[in-house]
Amino acid sequence: MKLDIFSTPIWRTHIIGFEYSRIQNEIDQCYDNVLFEKKKEWETNIQSLTDSTFSKNFIKDNNLKNLEKSIIKYTNDYIKESGGNGINPKIISSWMTKTEYLQHSHVHDHNAFDIAGVYYYKKDFQDAGFEIINPTSGNLANKKIVNASTTLTLFCKQGELLLFPGWLLHRVKEQYIDIERLSISFNINLE
Ligand SMILES: [Fe+2]
Repeated sequence: MKLDIFSTPIWRTHIIGFEYSRIQNEIDQCYDNVLFEKKKEWETNIQSLTDSTFSKNFIKDNNLKNLEKSIIKYTNDYIKESGGNGINPKIISSWMTKTEYLQHSHVHDHNAFDIAGVYYYKKDFQDAGFEIINPTSGNLANKKIVNASTTLTLFCKQGELLLFPGWLLHRVKEQYIDIERLSISFNINLE
């Protein structure tokens, strides 16, 4: 008998309808004033960010109430379905990321936080995928097991929301389509 032990809970929701329109509209309204910067030590083919220190709260600073409300709602669903109870999620920091042609991100985690996530504001379905590093890669000869892989790539659509444990290693793969990919990432702590 095969046992699947220590699986990784990841939440994926495609926000549609009025909920989606309200979120997109409020981001549209602040987008013209958004400024991007590069982290000095990063190469030129790495994404741009609204805050390279990851200490500010883009969602709060731009009063993105609808996005915040949806993030909290789906985080509560995620916690509940993962077995948690009576825990309040709070967005601690957030930023917008811009990925242009041939750019990508390094492999990283958000280890200082309980949950990390991303909302896709502008995105082509086929552009730079979200690659998750298998956290059990070091434990087994994954390549020798059918359907076991060291990585898994999700191709999300505009309006999708991903939530995952802060410790999970991930990256954005190289963007091969010549359009801007814009997303809002955030860190959540459970109180
Ligand atoms: Fe990330």
